[in-house]
Amino acid sequence: AVIVGRRVRRRREWRRVMAVVEELEEACSTPVGRLRQVVDAMAVEMHAGLASEGGSKLKMLITFVDRLPNGSEKDTYYALDLGGTYFRVLRVQLGGDRSGILRHDVERQPIPQHLMTSTSEDLFDFIASSLQEFVQKEEGVSEASTVKKRELGFTFSFPVKQTSVSSGILIKWTKGFAIEDMVGRDVSECLQQAMSKKGLNMRVAALVNDTVGTMALGHYHDKDTVAAVIIGTGTNACYWERADAIIKCQGLLTTSGGMVINMEWGNFWSTHLPRTSYDIELDVDSPNPNDQGFEKMISGMYLGDIVRRVILRMSQEADIFGPVSPKLSEPFILRTPLMAAMHEDNSSDLREVARILNEVLGIPDVPLKVRKLVVKVCDVVTQRAARLAAAGTVGILKKIGRDGRGGVTSGRIKGGSHSKMRRTAVAIEGGLYTSYSMFREYMNEAMTEILGEDISPYVILKITEDGSGIGAALLAATYSSPGVANVQ
Ligand code: GLC
Repeated sequence: AVIVGRRVRRRREWRRVMAVVEELEEACSTPVGRLRQVVDAMAVEMHAGLASEGGSKLKMLITFVDRLPNGSEKDTYYALDLGGTYFRVLRVQLGGDRSGILRHDVERQPIPQHLMTSTSEDLFDFIASSLQEFVQKEEGVSEASTVKKRELGFTFSFPVKQTSVSSGILIKWTKGFAIEDMVGRDVSECLQQAMSKKGLNMRVAALVNDTVGTMALGHYHDKDTVAAVIIGTGTNACYWERADAIIKCQGLLTTSGGMVINMEWGNFWSTHLPRTSYDIELDVDSPNPNDQGFEKMISGMYLGDIVRRVILRMSQEADIFGPVSPKLSEPFILRTPLMAAMHEDNSSDLREVARILNEVLGIPDVPLKVRKLVVKVCDVVTQRAARLAAAGTVGILKKIGRDGRGGVTSGRIKGGSHSKMRRTAVAIEGGLYTSYSMFREYMNEAMTEILGEDISPYVILKITEDGSGIGAALLAATYSSPGVANVQ
């Protein structure tokens, strides 16, 4: 009777754990009809954000980037890329005459955790030091101290209210950064001050968002590039907009009749988004509640933590996982790359899943059946993220008439008796898309589903590696002050 009782109890527990997963699946489901609603909502919010300041949760920030690099850029430029888990310094040699990027050197390092919540002075002193070391290494120590003026593209991937192409004010922090004294201050000035303290002779020629850098590099290689999407620690997109559609800046003068708009889509919100109790809890516990709702469902900073929360619930519901591991209550202990490793574990006994559950989450001896459920959870959370990112991307195409709907005005070129869809490229960067193949596949698949088989061959998502950094150097070249001799 004891054994039977135990078996019955086990079965009941299994059902409870299954119920947690099924409920999650249901709440996260993104059939194509729902994705289309997200597409429409994105396009509507874009209009609203362009119509008036504060007209939408989408900030639709103007960038002052009204020209994109065209291949004639030459000389050597530096770039600094700050805004994710890593920060990078680059030196890019441009050939001019469309001979392209001759060479680029990159150095990447993690941002020390304490600097993300310290003071702006600490952060920028650290950055300026790293930059100086890099310059010295690249140019040789003696050369670095000579009075050569160097031009820098500064990629600062947070919401910035630009005051020119090379300056702007931090609106708020995202992605776990929280340096209070920095909000409202001019970002370039902070860096410029730290650099002069070090005696580093360098000028910020362009201050850009990572999406904008990626767009610049994307466009450099492929003139059909109309937008850029980042899916990394955070998520965001920018695109090329006609100046007359930017209603909130009446009379905006641009040399080209258009301008890149930084959407800050991480803050997009719509009632059509499939939100779960885990999302709500994650938001409440975050340093920026009620903010960046789209980002919290999609980007690398958060996916692992959503999965952790689900596993915690499963563990609380039934003791299939043994006693609830205290590690399960530690925010962000399950980083997204580890979650991806579980998701992509191809071994028949899910060895990697077992290892991570044990070593990272402190849950030993999880039966295979339950490990499979954990993989399922990773799958559900990743698939939702990837499909929403696809819907957001199509939302942009819809806004600019490149989604293939609505005839000639919708990205079609008239050609003889029938019209033809125009080739459209979207530059894409960020670890989630570039290094997580399941995410990439789900996103590509959803693009096809939403656009339809006839249109989707014309829309290309192009991985633009190091785009945010190299693109910033390209923009520094595009916008460098005339007459300033650059390092050779
Ligand atoms: C966050 C930032 C945004 C950036 C994105 C990707 O959403 O607010 O500026 O582009 O992360 O790094």
